[in-house]
Parts: sequence; structure tokens; C-alpha cells
Amino acid sequence: MRQMATVLSNRPVAKGAMEMKVSVGAGEIAPGTFFHVKTSQLLRRPLSVANVDGNVVTFLYKVIGAGTTDLAARKAGDKLDVLGPLGNGFPLDQTGKRVVLVGGGIGIPPLYYTRRMLAARGIETVAILGFDTKESIFYEDAFRELGETIVTTVDGSYGEQGFVTGPLERIQADVLFSCGPEPMLKAVAASHIPERYISIENRMGCGIGACFACVCQAPGGYVKVCSDGPVFQAEEVTL
Ligand code: FES
Repeated sequence: MRQMATVLSNRPVAKGAMEMKVSVGAGEIAPGTFFHVKTSQLLRRPLSVANVDGNVVTFLYKVIGAGTTDLAARKAGDKLDVLGPLGNGFPLDQTGKRVVLVGGGIGIPPLYYTRRMLAARGIETVAILGFDTKESIFYEDAFRELGETIVTTVDGSYGEQGFVTGPLERIQADVLFSCGPEPMLKAVAASHIPERYISIENRMGCGIGACFACVCQAPGGYVKVCSDGPVFQAEEVTL
């Protein structure tokens, strides 16, 4: 659904990371889905849903190019042309199972909303959040409010030093949900957790399955990240 959302707030939450809250007229929004957002650039920008509260949707994004620089300049009251929610999210029906959420950097946001929804269903979770350095950490307290949370930094300036894969080795869980950079996804997809779901973040064109801009290799050919995903079972894609 295409609509004009209203920006409610837009603020930095960590080094290079912004949090934007918008009000939208969408119905139910599943964790792991995304909105395709129009910026000053030709192509829309996919932004995953970091949280939903009533009709308020939160996005967390990294300022890395002209499109996100434009987004960072938006102020409360501005209108934002959004298409969504789009895609297929994480399967929440995990009753009786323990879920480990593994996020890297700006791949972490969708895991927050997902964790809230799992908690609402009484499902036990543990989160491992990987950042480059202390200054790039966001939402740590929010994650801790929902259960055990392990933070890693590559440079060791906070939490455990190294990558998310270190603590993951000692975690016992039935299901893994993950989102982050491709090398991280590759590693967690090969982990010991029996059931593994990964969310892929690709460049996109149309966002609705019509242009092939977002295709990703799969054992049987290819999949479209925007409409077949962005969440896949690890075996469904070739990283
Ligand atoms: Fe066009 Fe996925 S972005 S098919």
C-alpha cells in the first residue's frame, strides 16, 4: 500500500545511525517486513521495521549515501512517501522453543520488533548484538528489557570482543533469527542451531517482485529478496 506517512521524530541514536518514527495508516505489520521509502534519489530505499506502536512505525537507518542523507534531514511534520509493509517476515509460531536472535550493526533493528512480538507470545529468547565499536551501539537497554542480551564489539571497546559467532557457539536454542552483513549471515547459517532463518538486505528497485533488481542465488536458481523474502530459511538461499 502506497501512502504518505507523517514524520513524528528523527534523531541520531548512535554514531552514523538515526531513528525515525512515522505515523502510517497500515493495518497489521509483521516483524521482519519492510517499507520502501521514497527519498531524493530515483530508487526507493528499503527500511526494515524496527518497532510498531499503534500506528507509529520506527525505522533505524545508517546514513551512508545521498538517499539516507536526505532522510536524515527530514523533520517532524514532514511527509514521507512510503510503500508497505512489504515482504515476508520471521515465523513467530515458535511455541515451546527457544529462539536466539543474532544481529549485526544496522541489521539489528528488525530483530527488536521481532523479539517484542515473540515475548508477547511467551517465547523465550536470547539476543546477540554485534557492533563495530562502543559508539555505534544502539537499543542495548531496549533489548535487555526483553531478556538475556549479549553485546559484542569488533574492537573490544564494549561487551565481548570479536564477532557474534563467538557467543553463538555456546548458546543452546532451537531456532535462530538473524539479520546483518552477508559474511555474518553466512557464518550463522552454518551454525549448530537446528532451524535457521536469515533476513537478507539487498539493493532494491520496485520492492514488489516486478524488476529482478534484488535477486539472490538459491539452490534451485534464484529468489527475489523483496517478495520471496526478505526472510528465508538458511537452506533456501546461496550466500
Ligand atoms: Fe524489484 Fe525485488 S526489487 S523484484
